[in-house]
Amino acid sequence: MKMKAVVVTVLLAAALSYYIYTPLPDGIQEPFKLMVVDASFRTAINLAALKYWLGLDHYITSFRQTLEGFDSTISALLGSTSPAGVVPGVKVSDITFAGVPVRVYEPPAGGEGHLRRGLMYFHGGGWAFGSGKMGAYNKMTQMISDELNTVVVSVEYRLFPEVHFPEPFLDCLSAAKHFLSPEVLAKYSIDPERVAVSGDSAGGNLAAAVAQEISTDDSVSVKFSVQALIYPALQALDFNTPSYVQNDNMAILPRRVMVQFWLQYLGADISLQPQVIANNHSALQHSPLTPELRSRLDWTSLLAQRFKKSFKPVVVERESQGLLKKVPAFLDVRSAPLLAGAEVLAKCPRAYILTCEYDVLRDDGLMYARRLQDAGVSVSSDYYENGFHGCLSFTSWPLGFDVGKRALRGYINWLQENL
Ligand SMILES: *[C@@H]1O[C@H](CO)[C@@H](O)[C@H](O)[C@H]1NC(C)=O
Repeated sequence: MKMKAVVVTVLLAAALSYYIYTPLPDGIQEPFKLMVVDASFRTAINLAALKYWLGLDHYITSFRQTLEGFDSTISALLGSTSPAGVVPGVKVSDITFAGVPVRVYEPPAGGEGHLRRGLMYFHGGGWAFGSGKMGAYNKMTQMISDELNTVVVSVEYRLFPEVHFPEPFLDCLSAAKHFLSPEVLAKYSIDPERVAVSGDSAGGNLAAAVAQEISTDDSVSVKFSVQALIYPALQALDFNTPSYVQNDNMAILPRRVMVQFWLQYLGADISLQPQVIANNHSALQHSPLTPELRSRLDWTSLLAQRFKKSFKPVVVERESQGLLKKVPAFLDVRSAPLLAGAEVLAKCPRAYILTCEYDVLRDDGLMYARRLQDAGVSVSSDYYENGFHGCLSFTSWPLGFDVGKRALRGYINWLQENL
């Protein structure tokens, strides 16, 4: 009997470690913790696939539920029973801006007539899940509000599968215009010269796109003064940049998952995944993707040698299906801000762009930094050579990473000095 129990325990432990084990690059510090995070994501995905297969739920809906379950478990472990009020003194209100739900964080009131800074934040989550109210985001936005004496507005834009592009972008744009209106800025005592737009991952995409739109819209009198983009997704035409190829199978955000997020966001069929991973959609022949547009995301000229290494561009000569004509959103600058022309970029606010080595999106961020600079915009680039996608969301026990803490600190310090 005893022997049997030992055998079963050993087998279970072996199965569990096999399940959790993911090969990771040497540059990743605290690899075991990252494996646990990655295994949790995979569990959420597998559960969602199972429930979808059983006809119980849309796979995104169940993925969200599992994620929220993880989030509240961690909050409970941390003993923060009232997640809205992590930082005492910061006032939290759930309201709407132009019909879009937002959470507003107001720092303790300053003296009469004392103006504060403003920051609008778009959370990440592949345009399909996540919320500014979740533990890590809620904590970060309150910290910024408190430490930087800033009114932070976290936007709950609508997500896939309820909507797809351009709705999430339009929600963010409406909320941004409302925030920048002189009456709203006055109501919150915000200095109109010191308002930032920011976001991470899919939220970084939305922040860059909204910043471009506002900068070129003459009907908006107050503009964002800075944009802070954290590992943003900025283009969906080349899924063979060095960072996409190098991080093909990386924990948290493998290439196939990012491609799936893009297809969902753009309202395209997910069955196109293998074709777009092969860059078939951006084939040369008969393509509406002109040489001029191509040059705007040509990593062979936009990336430094240390990132290009010996990677080779994947350029397909011909494809039969006319994918770009079927899915025109691939070429829309509001979904792919990297496609904007230099004349648009030149009008954009000063930028902070954070990138991580172990992230399929690294080169999107690096190329955008280079193009903004070439257009005459001042850019601060923060590159983390041990960083991985999503690391800013993992800064506290039990899943805190040193690189996540450093990156979060670097981002907040930049805002402190530049907003
Ligand atoms: C890419 O397109 C070509 C030509 O239409 C086709 O033969 C090839 O199978 C496609 N590749 C993928 C991965 O679908």
